[in-house]
Amino acid sequence: MDRPAPASVFPGQLAWENEGSSRIPFMSYTSEALHRLELERFFYRKHWCYVGLEAEIPNPGDFKLSAVGERSVILARDLEGGINVVENVCAHRGMSFCRERHGNRRDFTCPYHQWNYSLKGDLQGVPFRRGVRQEGKVNGGMPADFKLEENGLNKLKVASRGGVVFASFDADVEPLEDFLGPAVLRYFDRLFDGRALKILGYNRQRIPGNWKLMQENIKDPYHPGLLHTWFVTFGLWRADNKSELVMDAQHRHGAMISTRGQMGKADQVTSVSSFKADMKLEDPRFLDIVPEAWWGGPTAVMTTVFPSVIFQQQVNSVSTRHIQPDGHGAFDFIWTHFAFADDSEEMVQRRLRQANLFGPAGFVSADDGEVIELSQKGFEQKPFHRTLAELGGKDVGDADHMVTETLIRGMYEYWRRVMEA
Ligand code: FES
Ligand code: FE2
Repeated sequence: MDRPAPASVFPGQLAWENEGSSRIPFMSYTSEALHRLELERFFYRKHWCYVGLEAEIPNPGDFKLSAVGERSVILARDLEGGINVVENVCAHRGMSFCRERHGNRRDFTCPYHQWNYSLKGDLQGVPFRRGVRQEGKVNGGMPADFKLEENGLNKLKVASRGGVVFASFDADVEPLEDFLGPAVLRYFDRLFDGRALKILGYNRQRIPGNWKLMQENIKDPYHPGLLHTWFVTFGLWRADNKSELVMDAQHRHGAMISTRGQMGKADQVTSVSSFKADMKLEDPRFLDIVPEAWWGGPTAVMTTVFPSVIFQQQVNSVSTRHIQPDGHGAFDFIWTHFAFADDSEEMVQRRLRQANLFGPAGFVSADDGEVIELSQKGFEQKPFHRTLAELGGKDVGDADHMVTETLIRGMYEYWRRVMEA
C-alpha cells in the first residue's frame, strides 16, 4: 500500500480492512478533515466533556480557564455560589479575552473594548453604548434596538456530580448519568462519592500524538505489565492480577479494574524484558501503600470517559487527566492531582509521593507519552496502513482478565458508528 495520501479524507473514504473495529486505519489518526469532524461529533455535540473539579473554584468569583475540545471555556463560580461554564469568546468582536489560568474576580472585562460580563456570562456593560454628546448632539453608540440580554457570552450546559464538573455545547445532550451509564457510573461514584476534594497540584504536558491514543492507552491493559519497567519491577501491575474490564452500553467509556496480588515484586523467573531484578528504590516510601476502605477491593481503577477525560486511582494516588486536542497530531494533557479534604496530613504526603509515578516525567507515565509520540510517527509515515487490535479476539465485550484489547475495539466500534465510517 503506497498510494499517496489525499489532501483530505472523509469518513466514507476510510479503508477499513474488515467489518468490526479490530483493524483501525492509520488515517483515523492522521487526517485533519476527520479530526475536524471528530471535534463536531464527539466534543461539541451529544457528549459531556470534563472541565474541572468544584474544588478548583471553591469561592464565589473563583474561575478556571478550561477547554472543551479545541474551544476555550471558563469555569466560574458566580456570586450566588452557582457553577457556570461560558465560552471564552467575547460577544463583541470575538476576542478570546481570558488568559489567566485561575483567578478570582467579580466580573469579566474584555480588554479590547471593555465589554463587561457577569460570572454567569451575562453582558452587563458596553462603553459608549449611548454614544457621545458633542456640540449639542449625540454621536455614535449602539443602535437603539441593541439589547444587553441578547449579547451575553455563549453559555454551556453544565452537570456536576461528586464534585466533578462536565459541560456541553449541546443543549439537548442526555443527562450525565445516562451518558456515563450504570456500569461506568459505579466506578465514577466509587472515587467521587461526595467527599470534599482538596487540590494538590497540576502537571501539564503536550503530547505530539492524536488525542485518541491517550484514550486507547488507558483502554489497553496489555501494555502496563510489559512497557512499564517500574510497574513490572516493583509488582504494581501484573498480567495475572485479578482484574475486570467493563464498558458502557455504547462501548465508548471503559474501566480497567485490577486488584494487586499478594506476590508483590515479581520475584520468580520472568520472561518480561522490562523486569529488572537488581533494581531497588532509593526511597521505599514510593511504595508505602495503605489500603483505604472506599476501594472496596480493587487497588487500581482507571476509568476512561470518552472523549475528554481519564479518572485515575492507582493505589493511593488519585487524579483526573484532561484531554485537550490541538489538531490531529497533538493534544495538551492536564493532570489534576487531588486528595480528600478529610485526609490526614500523612495521607496527603503519601498521595503526593505516589503522584511521582504519573505526569509527564512520572516513573510510569513518561513511558506512555513517548509511545504515543512514536505511534503517531509510525502512522504519519504510512497513512494507508492500519493497526491491529485483535488480542482476545475481534469482538467487543466485558472481560475478567487483562489479556485483551476489547476496550479499544469497543471505542472504535462507537467511533465508526458515530463517524459513519
Ligand atoms: Fe471584546 Fe470588543 S472584542 S470588547
Ligand atoms: Fe501506560
